[in-house]
Amino acid sequence: SPPQDLAGVRVAVSAGPTREYLDPVRYISNPSSGKMGFAVAEVARARGADVTLVTGPVGLADLPGVRTVRVESALEMHAAMLEAARDANVVVMTAAVADYRAADPATEKRPKTPGDVTVTFTPNPDILAALGAEKGERVLVGFAMETDAGVARAAEKARRKNADFILLNYPTKVGTAFGGDDNEVTLVRADGSFEAWPRVSKREVASRLLDAALAVRGG
Ligand code: C5P
Repeated sequence: SPPQDLAGVRVAVSAGPTREYLDPVRYISNPSSGKMGFAVAEVARARGADVTLVTGPVGLADLPGVRTVRVESALEMHAAMLEAARDANVVVMTAAVADYRAADPATEKRPKTPGDVTVTFTPNPDILAALGAEKGERVLVGFAMETDAGVARAAEKARRKNADFILLNYPTKVGTAFGGDDNEVTLVRADGSFEAWPRVSKREVASRLLDAALAVRGG
């Protein structure tokens, strides 16, 4: 097994998409696979951390030794992450949280009607920003997917949400992001400094991310 350099460190990770129901059988979501967050949880556990993984609906099995909390909506993820983060030392938000939910989801299946349908959406809480507002001594890590002007936007996002750093990835890069086994990310700090990492496995991204989190803790 690898060096147990995360022994005694409590890590909370979010993964996957959220589902925002319009009625009991229809929802809005996104193609997040959960692989990045599961990789962070698996690597942190292998290095000796106590790990809680909060995940939206994904096709991935529980990881041995990792406390796994399965949720659907952003509101459920918000509650579960606040709970998981309470006594965590490192919090990593990889989840692709839906920005909006239906303001008034139907309790019965919506009937099909002729013509257009209008649904009102209301903003979901920003979980990372909520954790940043109560940051304490925790190291807080976010992800961001941008199509351009990435580094400046990611630095601004890190400042606004009070994250220590954000891993920026691009949805358009071949073989990375949604569903893939590799990722090519740039670590961006709130002060605007950044490091572009090569395309490596999501497990290797996870390992480097945890190294960077330890460095923030001064270890
Ligand atoms: O603002 P943006 O969605 O680009 O920020 C991405 C980061 O914020 C990710 O770490 C994501 O998990 C987190 N986020 C969140 N709650 C939201 C939206 C995004 O925690 N409602």
